[in-house]
Amino acid sequence: SAPGTLPHFIEEPEDAYIIKSNPIALRCKARPAMQIFFKCNGEWVHQNEHVSEESLDESSGLKVREVFINVTRQQVEDFHGPEDYWCQCVAWSHLGTSKSRKASVRIAYLRKNFEQDPQGREVPIEGMIVLHCRPPEGVPAAEVEWLKNEEPIDSEQDENIDTRADHNLIIRQARLSDSGNYTCMAANIVAKRRSLSATVVVYVNGGWSSWTEWSACNVRCGRGWQKRSRTCTNPAPLNGGAFCEGMSVQKITCTALCPVDGHHHHHH
Ligand SMILES: *[C@@H]1O[C@H](CO)[C@@H](O)[C@H](O)[C@H]1NC(C)=O
Ligand SMILES: *[C@@H]1O[C@H](CO)[C@@H](O)[C@H](O)[C@H]1NC(C)=O
Repeated sequence: SAPGTLPHFIEEPEDAYIIKSNPIALRCKARPAMQIFFKCNGEWVHQNEHVSEESLDESSGLKVREVFINVTRQQVEDFHGPEDYWCQCVAWSHLGTSKSRKASVRIAYLRKNFEQDPQGREVPIEGMIVLHCRPPEGVPAAEVEWLKNEEPIDSEQDENIDTRADHNLIIRQARLSDSGNYTCMAANIVAKRRSLSATVVVYVNGGWSSWTEWSACNVRCGRGWQKRSRTCTNPAPLNGGAFCEGMSVQKITCTALCPVDGHHHHHH
């Protein structure tokens, strides 16, 4: 190799998560490099635990070395440091050594219980709905998605729905069709969890129709009454919305002029 060059890392170890009991592989690649060893948490990893491959870079004529180690769940669990389990590579050339970045190795998990489940709501039509969801604690942090009646909600498809804000689901103006069961799904690389379902009911309060015309006086002659009515249909209450307040029928008295002497009374 060219004597005047420090090793340059072509590949550096990447942060990794241990999933269940599977070990993860860390790798490093440097050029030029006579030797590469891993250091984890400040201590050299034993030579026997490395798998090392050497090749020649055709264009530069420099030696390329690639090295792998495995890190097991047990190793990470047994490490009780102030920071995460970490590893880095040290590579040698004739000129000296170079160090790679430090990669952290963490055990992935996702707890069972949501820190906050969404709560059912009853909202008037055109009201705003905010459903909160705080996913279970996890490493890496869980991603959240929402289901409505078991179907994923695509907020891209619906301008009225916003799921960007901190895992919450916001429906700006509730429509009748927004009634349903909402569930928050949390997932990371190890597990997927579902929250309790929240039932959203969008209701409509009733409103009065306009009054009918007054009916004719109910007697041909003398004092009687006439009435008019209205109905709670504009709109009709729906999904538990309030019925209209007030009377649906109004009555007033009326006086019909009586016939005189068997003849109809005429004005003089
Ligand atoms: C890491 O483990 C896998 C099997 O899990 C094995 O094939 C591989 O050789 C191991 N690598 C090292 C560097 O020990
Ligand atoms: C929502 O859940 C309730 C029970 O919690 C069920 O009675 C109802 O049918 C569900 N609604 C829909 C639209 O799935």
